[in-house]
Amino acid sequence: MRVNGTAVTTPDPARRLLDFLRDDLGLIGAKEGCGMGECGACTVLVDGDPVCSCLVLVGQVAATDVVTVEGIGDDHRLHPVQEAFVDHYASQCGFCTPGVVVSVAGLLAKNPRPAEADVREALEGNLCRCTGYQAIFRAVASVAE
Ligand code: FES
Ligand code: FES
Repeated sequence: MRVNGTAVTTPDPARRLLDFLRDDLGLIGAKEGCGMGECGACTVLVDGDPVCSCLVLVGQVAATDVVTVEGIGDDHRLHPVQEAFVDHYASQCGFCTPGVVVSVAGLLAKNPRPAEADVREALEGNLCRCTGYQAIFRAVASVAE
């Protein structure tokens, strides 16, 4: 597969994608919250679609393009979604933020001008226990304008 544009491989197709990303590749942006597909903290894009990396085995995403939060921006320039999260104080503890940012970036790549209902639907799998979501929605709306 490719991860953030780089070809990678592993001899263990039964390894969880989340463990492969975090432990083998050192991409620790995706977080393990629930480990059972409920919280979205582990969200990455697989061929442009948000996926809970805690539920997916490496062998299931062979030959795909995987993008983690590290691949959304770079060391020198934030992605517009990340800038908006900073400007609108859309992150508090930050544990959910990588997954939320990835989900939003995936949405905007397909639908640059989403309605609020689209944003809410896109984020229904991303739980945040800190922000109350309103700052997140304001941040996304500012990018979608
Ligand atoms: S850690 Fe994957 S959905 Fe919660
Ligand atoms: S900012 Fe803390 S869980 Fe979302």
